[in-house]
Amino acid sequence: MTIRNRILLTASALLLGLAASAQTHRMDIDLKKVGAPVQPTMYGIFFEDINFAADGGLYAELVKNRSFEFPQDPLQGWKAFGKVEVRDDGPFERCPHYVRLADPGHAHKWTGLDNEGFFGIGVKGGETYRFTVWARVPDGGSSELRIELVNTASMGEDQFFCQAPLTVSGKDWKQYEVVLTPNTTFAKSVLRIFLVGNRATTDLEHISLFPTDTWMGHRNGMRKDLAQALADLKPGVFRFPGGCIVEGADLATRYNWKNTVGPVENRPINENRWEYTFPHRFFPDYYQSYGLGFFEFFQLSEEIGSEPLPILSCGLACQFQNDDPSAHCPVDELRPFIQDALDLIEFANGPVTSTWGKVRADMGHPEPFNLKFIGIGNEQWDALYPEHLEPFVKAIRAAYPDIRIVGSSGPNSEGDQFDYLWPEMKRLGADLVDEHFYRPEEWFLAQGARYDNYDREGPKVFAGEYACHGKNKHKWNHYEASILEAAFMTDMERNADVVYMTAYAPLFAHVEGWQWRPDLIWYDNLRMFKSCSYYVQQMYAVNKGTNVLRMTMNKQPIAGQPGQDGLFASSVFDKNTGEVIIKIINTSRQPQPVSVKLVGMKGTRTAETITLSHNGMDDENTLDNPEKITPKNGTISVDAGKDATLLTDDIPAMTFRLYKIKK
Ligand code: AHR
Repeated sequence: MTIRNRILLTASALLLGLAASAQTHRMDIDLKKVGAPVQPTMYGIFFEDINFAADGGLYAELVKNRSFEFPQDPLQGWKAFGKVEVRDDGPFERCPHYVRLADPGHAHKWTGLDNEGFFGIGVKGGETYRFTVWARVPDGGSSELRIELVNTASMGEDQFFCQAPLTVSGKDWKQYEVVLTPNTTFAKSVLRIFLVGNRATTDLEHISLFPTDTWMGHRNGMRKDLAQALADLKPGVFRFPGGCIVEGADLATRYNWKNTVGPVENRPINENRWEYTFPHRFFPDYYQSYGLGFFEFFQLSEEIGSEPLPILSCGLACQFQNDDPSAHCPVDELRPFIQDALDLIEFANGPVTSTWGKVRADMGHPEPFNLKFIGIGNEQWDALYPEHLEPFVKAIRAAYPDIRIVGSSGPNSEGDQFDYLWPEMKRLGADLVDEHFYRPEEWFLAQGARYDNYDREGPKVFAGEYACHGKNKHKWNHYEASILEAAFMTDMERNADVVYMTAYAPLFAHVEGWQWRPDLIWYDNLRMFKSCSYYVQQMYAVNKGTNVLRMTMNKQPIAGQPGQDGLFASSVFDKNTGEVIIKIINTSRQPQPVSVKLVGMKGTRTAETITLSHNGMDDENTLDNPEKITPKNGTISVDAGKDATLLTDDIPAMTFRLYKIKK
């Protein structure tokens, strides 16, 4: 080869090499003009009792069917032995059932009960558990019970690993309490109650077992690890109680908040529609005890610093499950539903002298909960919805003009119903409109500019339920889905002048009791793990800043558009910390070099970084490997640049990186 040819070859190899390595993507952030405020409610949480999220989940009660009220069988969840009779003239009007334990009639026989809990009863060695029961000895005198935690599969001499005696005395119903301290950790215990001693006939009602170490130490409390995971998200808004359970499969089984307040012993249970909504994930013993009710939701909102957002029935039963118009409440008969909404506002905010304010005060919270938002209707559609919503809006506006009302755009993120309902919500004067999107990968990649052209004069957006549901059976919390969610969220953040609230959904799932996935937080009876999507939500929520900053590439929003090589980005300023926060997501399968010019900032800096990056797109966190994929903290030096500070970096493939730079 001649020297000339060799030079030509080297030059073309160099050129080819340059072409193969990606061009640096030049981005600008304008720090001179601070943009729209990011609402404190921007990143929130959505709670629904689906996937055993309440009983068997966040609600720390360990006994299933504690009041013997399951309608198919009052002993569902229990195994009775010896002489046990179910009676229905108990001390609690709305939960009338209880059990009568009597002498089995033979010295070597036994009377008592086992409770199976929710997929077993999880207890931790050395921790304490409060067993309580309402009881009486109907014939007077006293009787002895023995309370045990049992491993029925044990190969040891004893099945029990914890025992405590309890004496019941007198003809009157009283609540008794004994603390159990198991010496071993076991996820699948059974609670066993023996009638012992003189075996006097004894009545038992509302049999309950709670860890004493609940979230904030509340007696009727929540699982501490799960509530802490919510608090760690720093959610700005807390939507409850759903979802479809707001509507009910029929109106009779809609969520009725009035049944969820007052003493827990007297809260009637409700069917849970997720028992049967999916026959392929069927749970015939899924009921709502309402132990986790509206008081507890409001209290939790306050404790984790979120605005409460209750959603109430608008008088329409689930429209997916009811074609027959007679399933719904006619518009001219809506008064009780509207009254429920007005009473709820009084329950949350009314003075202690008001009817419902007094109920709140009697439950231990005389101060108002300071409710600001209420949602009416979940996924409703057709003209039926605006017709039903209108009288609610009028009544709430008249009585509580400051309460902001959330309407719905139906179950789909686009399409005829969506296009019909948005203008209707505007016509009715809804303050926010709830949008839902459980959509596949390409939808998330294509929606980077969704909110750029939304009507700035209309209601604000509440992206109230969303998650990336992967195609081809990729319907779990795998890493790839979380990165696509992160990419889409740049659009929400950039458009914080119109998007006021958002929430991933659903929130919780028991690994043995789920009906719907993906979900943000998973658990069994003792352990939990946070999904990759949880970390994405947390990175946004903890770093939401106070104001949007304009961030562009070639003067265009960075939204995964043609020519942007799969990059999505947004930026905010935090007036409280003086930090510029930049979020860049690379959804392409190769690293992308970026250089971000911070117009209005001079000099060098060290920026903090938080990076969520992983190679296996199908990988996920699990109970056994809960921290397989987590964000990692780091730092990066930021250059002085020619006329403005310059951040230069290589974002790895399929990575979410967040930068914090002090201004
Ligand atoms: O989040 C699960 C369900 O999805 C909700 O109940 C409903 O609103 C939506 O269809």
